[in-house]
Amino acid sequence: MNAFELYNSTKVVFGEDRVSRLGELVQPFGKRILLVYGGGSIKNSGLYDQVKAQLAGIDTVVHELPGIEPNPRLSTVNKGIQICRDEDIQFILAVGGGSVIDAAKAIAAGALYDGDVWDFTIGKAVVKQALPLGTILTLAATGSEMNGNSVISNWETKQKRAFGSRLVYPKFSILDPKLTYTVPVNQTVNGIVDIMSHVFEQYFSLTTDTPLQERFGESILLTVIENGEKAIANGSDYNARANLLLAGTYALNGTLPIGVVTDWATHGIEHEVSAIYDIAHGAGLAIIFPNWMKYVYKERVDRFVQFAVRVWGVDANGKTDDEIALEGIEATRAYFTRIGAPATLGELGINDENIQRMAEEATQFGPIGSYKKLAKEDVVNILKASL
Ligand code: NZQ
Ligand code: ZN
Repeated sequence: MNAFELYNSTKVVFGEDRVSRLGELVQPFGKRILLVYGGGSIKNSGLYDQVKAQLAGIDTVVHELPGIEPNPRLSTVNKGIQICRDEDIQFILAVGGGSVIDAAKAIAAGALYDGDVWDFTIGKAVVKQALPLGTILTLAATGSEMNGNSVISNWETKQKRAFGSRLVYPKFSILDPKLTYTVPVNQTVNGIVDIMSHVFEQYFSLTTDTPLQERFGESILLTVIENGEKAIANGSDYNARANLLLAGTYALNGTLPIGVVTDWATHGIEHEVSAIYDIAHGAGLAIIFPNWMKYVYKERVDRFVQFAVRVWGVDANGKTDDEIALEGIEATRAYFTRIGAPATLGELGINDENIQRMAEEATQFGPIGSYKKLAKEDVVNILKASL
């Protein structure tokens, strides 16, 4: 196990009707609020009215930035930054899924930075200060509600880039499983795949002697596999939604990578596909991950054997390590297909036209990943296998 530091500053407020705590949670941060949300799901569900009532109850001045896109865009983030400057905003409240929260983080950092907020994503600048933000999460997927990451798309240049900073951890996140009842089946599926993928990125590691971290990952996977299917069958199953929500938060809140070298190549590749084709992040991962697994498993077959046996219950009797590992990979692909995720890029209308460009972008700063370091040609091979 490697040395590590662990610090997570987000207060999680979890449970039914916890939005009733919003006023109390926002109050210490000031009166001038920017409310950031997406394309209207929070208005349809009635959450918007609840939020406004809570904010009115503590006598705040609320400005709004609606219309955050899935795969949030730099141009929209810049609108938010402008509002913060013009209106002297003191606190940002993000109400929605990962896209809304990521946009709010970029606005929070960009509002107090003189240059272009995109600088943070290309390593031209680091975040030195940010406005405080809080979130009400409505979709179990990214973990953005309890981490310092933000993923933004520059639609003009067709680039999707991330930055991370301690300064944009949400001050609080309200997680009410009931707020996820209205998530449609396809977005529930995308979320399930994303959560599982976050575990994969941190579980398939060359670091040894990390049994606790491995079992943390396996417990999240087993929880998601079981409760994901229940949430798809019945969107209003409280316990299934609650378990999915908690799993999503823990898959990417800093618990899994402690003392471990993580991979993240598949996320890097998927972001390049989303940057050009604007597909849902989870859909891209469902396609690429099984192909990444097949491409790299021989680097350290025992971790894939453990995964197959412990997570998918593969019977190891009389089989070679390769056979067991491949059965686990096929079980992963079969689960994704069973819950309705796409299996090929072709299903999303994507052909081989931009493969070279995507592989070039993904590896522009050198090989990606750590389980197996992937050069441009490796990424091309994985994308071709995903067609
Ligand atoms: O925009 P609205 O109307 O709110 O609708 C959204 C959106 O259309 C809808 N939705 C959300 N909650 C709902 C709901 N519909 C009905 N009822 C509800 N309760 O779902 C759609 C997708 O929302 P989005 O926020 O885009 O989904 P997700 O949470 O999966 O976020 C995806 C974004 O996060 C990035 C992805 O790359 C992508 O841009 N990621 C962020 C990470 C992070 N910050 O740590 C890590 C991830 O790996 C990921 O890269
Ligand atoms: Zn992800």
